[in-house]
Amino acid sequence: MAILVTGGAGYIGSHTCVELLNAGYEVVVLDNLSNSSEKSLERVKELTGKDLVFYKGDILDREILERIFAEQKIDSCIHFAGLKAVGESVEKPWQYYNNNISGTLTLVDEMRRHGCKNIIFSSSSTVYGTPEKVPVTEETPKGVCTNPYGWTKHMLEQILSDVQKADPEWNVILLRYFNPIGAHKSGKIGENPNGIPNNLMPYITQVAVGKLEKLGVFGDDYDTPDGTGVRDYIHVVDLAVGHVKALKKIEEKAGLCIYNLGTGVGYSVLDIVKSFEEATGIKIPYEIKPRRAGDIAMNYANAEKAERELGWKAENGIREMCADSWNWQKNNPNGFED
Ligand code: NAD
Ligand code: UD1
Repeated sequence: MAILVTGGAGYIGSHTCVELLNAGYEVVVLDNLSNSSEKSLERVKELTGKDLVFYKGDILDREILERIFAEQKIDSCIHFAGLKAVGESVEKPWQYYNNNISGTLTLVDEMRRHGCKNIIFSSSSTVYGTPEKVPVTEETPKGVCTNPYGWTKHMLEQILSDVQKADPEWNVILLRYFNPIGAHKSGKIGENPNGIPNNLMPYITQVAVGKLEKLGVFGDDYDTPDGTGVRDYIHVVDLAVGHVKALKKIEEKAGLCIYNLGTGVGYSVLDIVKSFEEATGIKIPYEIKPRRAGDIAMNYANAEKAERELGWKAENGIREMCADSWNWQKNNPNGFED
């Protein structure tokens, strides 16, 4: 039996393919390469010494989904495919709702038609909006999102929960990721953002490699220990392992489950700069800028439920996250284009 990994050529997807192959699963990837390169999959094969099946195509395309379910014996789907740039989602809401929501509706309908009712969905800590209290548990109420990207996660959680409720044969696991950073230890796969990065770690590594001059720190007047924003950064390999654990849960008949995937520790922007400098010996020049619209002061996870129910716990600390992000960036200054 194989696992269909939508968006498997992307950042988290490619790391998850490595862990799935290493755990002995057969892997079928569907990706339209809108934000990734097929080279990541070549590297996945290189790293694991194992093969996978790749379909270049769109989750909105019923024909290719039909073909995949006809040609492969798909047991479960890990659904990463989606657009994820927060700022772009404000400019292009229709594209985000269409791609993420219509895409997932199409995928889920084809899964149902072919009797495949197991799905693990990439959600985000963004569904908590501005939490009243941190750390957030899975019981913390979902909040108001500040952008269409966030709403797609919020709405898809609801849609998938309702699908499971109406038909309990479904197993639906919603994984709320906190802030994934880092890369595979080999430095062969990693995050490859288009253009100027929006997220903190890729921005820092691009400053370190000399592509960008200095980091802008978005606000130093938040109600946090040093005034800069606090987040729960999680190593992408730990996150990938979380998906393998979630598959085991599906095999035991999960029903509907929701898990935070984070470390439970919050770091400020300046903590990250300092940890990066310590891990790599490279100085990161920065300047304080105004707050970024839509940002919150602080969010980090209570991840005890995942530990209790999945036997999963993040193992890498901030130093490894920084060192591995840098190892990927320095070996691949132009991502997969080299
Ligand atoms: P990514 O952009 O690297 O990977 C997403 C992949 O999906 C890409 O390879 C892209 O080409 C593909 N894709 C997009 N739309 C598609 C479509 N219609 N059909 C087929 N393929 C399509 O992003 P990522 O960081 O690996 O994120 C994976 C998932 O996790 C996304 O759903 C994202 O929203 C979610 N997530 C990411 C983060 C993060 O910080 N990276 C945080 C929370 C949640
Ligand atoms: C953002 C998104 C979130 C998405 C996640 C991963 C918002 C409000 N949230 O999370 O929905 O799931 O990315 O794609 O956009 N920072 C700087 N300078 C920079 C970049 C970031 O100071 O150049 C700060 C931010 O203000 C924040 C922290 O670093 O305090 C982390 O930012 P980022 O990596 O963008 O992640 P989030 O904002 O947590």
